[in-house]
Amino acid sequence: MPLVTGIELLEDARRRDYAVGAFNVNNMEIIQAIIAAAEEERSPVILQASQGAIKYAGIRYIRALVLAAAEEAKVPVCLHLDHGPSFEQVMECLRYGFTSVMFDGSHLPYEENVRLTAKAVEAAHAVGVSVEGELGKIGGVEEEIRVEDWDVVLTDPEVVPDFVERTGVDYLAVAIGTKHGFYKGEPKLDFERLARIHQLMPDLPLVLHGGSGIPEEHIRRAIPLGVRKINIDTELRAAFVGKAREVMAAKPEEIDPRKILGPAREAMKEKVKEKMRLFGSSGKA
Ligand code: 13P
Repeated sequence: MPLVTGIELLEDARRRDYAVGAFNVNNMEIIQAIIAAAEEERSPVILQASQGAIKYAGIRYIRALVLAAAEEAKVPVCLHLDHGPSFEQVMECLRYGFTSVMFDGSHLPYEENVRLTAKAVEAAHAVGVSVEGELGKIGGVEEEIRVEDWDVVLTDPEVVPDFVERTGVDYLAVAIGTKHGFYKGEPKLDFERLARIHQLMPDLPLVLHGGSGIPEEHIRRAIPLGVRKINIDTELRAAFVGKAREVMAAKPEEIDPRKILGPAREAMKEKVKEKMRLFGSSGKA
């Protein structure tokens, strides 16, 4: 199947009240694990590449691997740029056939975030690609982006309509207390804030970053409040590397990478399937 745009997936998720998992990828086994999970669950899926992934694998490899996976897949697959730092990066991804891009201007002053996001939207929409913006500042460490606790800025709901109208973004990452990476203690999500954003913009698909480690009941509560895309990276890495470590500890003489990465891929697939069931995307493709 050819790649589909982010908004196609998130519109369906909105209509049928579920969320699509957006899983971070940077090598062949990870892409295969996520696609196999999507096929087994009959779930739509978003594969996303961050700056770190693009640096590590190269944009050509990411594109080629994702296209190879999507070509064979019977479920809809979207290729998304996660936390695009610049207009140039957005343009490169458009050139390489990404079907969704994020422009992350959350560290910029508001007017600058509006101006640059609108510019990214204009370019992406011209070639039929949908765009995610970010308002507020999400905490934690996401590859090359580190936001300390004191620097977190939760999304001001009252500003959301202005931002969406002036930029034209198709979906919006909101800061409501989630964090990239593992949580120390129980994460505290600001559901009142989320509900207010959803009340002001009921048709706007919202994006939850830092999806790893959020208790299941919080996820179930967030979805009917407009969350349609949930980003997961850390938990998948932990499943993959945890299994690879286990195999290496049990068989220290093993030198065939396939015997280590194969089981790691399988473990990651199971974790992705678990998330798809939780998000309600299983059976929706
Ligand atoms: P986690 O690593 O916390 O799952 O967050 C992933 C993410 O939000 C990528 O943008």
